[in-house]
Amino acid sequence: MVHADASNFNEGVTKEDAYEQVLLQAEGLFYDQRNWVCNLSNAASLLWHAYQSLPAPSNRVNWSGFYVLDPSAAKPQLILGPFQGKVACQIIAFGRGVCGVAAESQTTQLVQDVEQFPGHIACDSESKSEIVVPIVADKDGEKKVVAIIDVDCAELNGFDEVDKKNLEQLAELIGKSCNW
Ligand code: SME
Repeated sequence: MVHADASNFNEGVTKEDAYEQVLLQAEGLFYDQRNWVCNLSNAASLLWHAYQSLPAPSNRVNWSGFYVLDPSAAKPQLILGPFQGKVACQIIAFGRGVCGVAAESQTTQLVQDVEQFPGHIACDSESKSEIVVPIVADKDGEKKVVAIIDVDCAELNGFDEVDKKNLEQLAELIGKSCNW
């Protein structure tokens, strides 16, 4: 059964434990539900509340959410999907900014200082570091990037290998749990 308690994280929880809860709750929520709008919305909520429950720098996360492959475009581009945080850029071309590079290269981008990333798209000048993880899934008979996870932090060096490992696991789970 779906319950809002899934987004409650114990105070003093470690980052590893918070991610474990995110992954377990996501798996439960995705069971019997393959709609990507629905699943990405709940995943954005889980991530947001997990970060808010953690000590700095994680609790300085100011945006967590998704961009998805824009089905209406001739050239590959991303369009804003479910998220938590302030309003954000609507369209990002593959290859542009941190999100576009992650989508085009199909590799995680862990950026400790966004100002050092050539072409970074500054939706919010408060964001100082960022991690973007591609979500790869079967679409039209081939494996392709169908969405990306994007998390921004208002502190430099907001993310590390623990974030990378767990967000990549979440990306894998999301990729196989939705109809794209
Ligand atoms: N900074 C991102 C754009 C998306 S927002 O941060 C939500 C980028 O460079 O791709």
